[in-house]
Amino acid sequence: MTSDDAIEALSHQALKMVKANYVIGLGSGRAATAIVRLLSSHIKKNKFTVKAVPTSLQIKMEAEKGGIPIIEADQIDHIDLVFDGADQIDTKGNMIKGGGGALLREKILISMAKKVVIIADESKFVKKLKRSVPVEVHPFARNTAAIQIRKYGGKPHVRLLERGYPFVTENGNIILDCDFGEISNPRELATKIIEIPGVIEVGIFPKPDIIYKAKENGKYEVLR
Ligand code: A5P
Repeated sequence: MTSDDAIEALSHQALKMVKANYVIGLGSGRAATAIVRLLSSHIKKNKFTVKAVPTSLQIKMEAEKGGIPIIEADQIDHIDLVFDGADQIDTKGNMIKGGGGALLREKILISMAKKVVIIADESKFVKKLKRSVPVEVHPFARNTAAIQIRKYGGKPHVRLLERGYPFVTENGNIILDCDFGEISNPRELATKIIEIPGVIEVGIFPKPDIIYKAKENGKYEVLR
């Protein structure tokens, strides 16, 4: 048994929250992919009509593969439920997200969702956030934003692809992965960074409604 088995088991449980005619926000990454695969059979089995709003081309293609009807964020006025993953979660539920670069769209969907459900394996849980924080920045502000981030105690690095090219988000921006060491006040830090001219979004997210913690032994916990 592994955390992947736990993610599969908890996904079945989490999908019980899906009701007919729901507008569902789909985050990006491994956990979101796992739930999208099961969402497809769930809606077919229950003969539910739902619409899904994807946060990346990756998850959009996954939803299309499963025959899940897609709608774009600019065509909706609400989201019933968001399913997403996280890169790190502290004991208060603050999260770091954006490891896959989809933080802007994830934050937009999460901000308008009636319920946010996060799925993460136990390796993501820490006492205090300490992983580097992804910051989406307009390319024009690559240096100016980095200078400000250094003033706030961060060490920014332009995210690169394996072959050395800069990673470019689906919104045409770059990512500065910023190491702040242990973050004692995530909300305060996020507020300071978002005010830097050229910063599009910060990968510090507030506590979601429900967190499913997938364990190595194949079991899972539900944290609210
Ligand atoms: C995408 O940009 C991220 O915010 C993901 O939600 C996060 O990286 C978690 O991904 P995994 O589920 O693949 O670990």
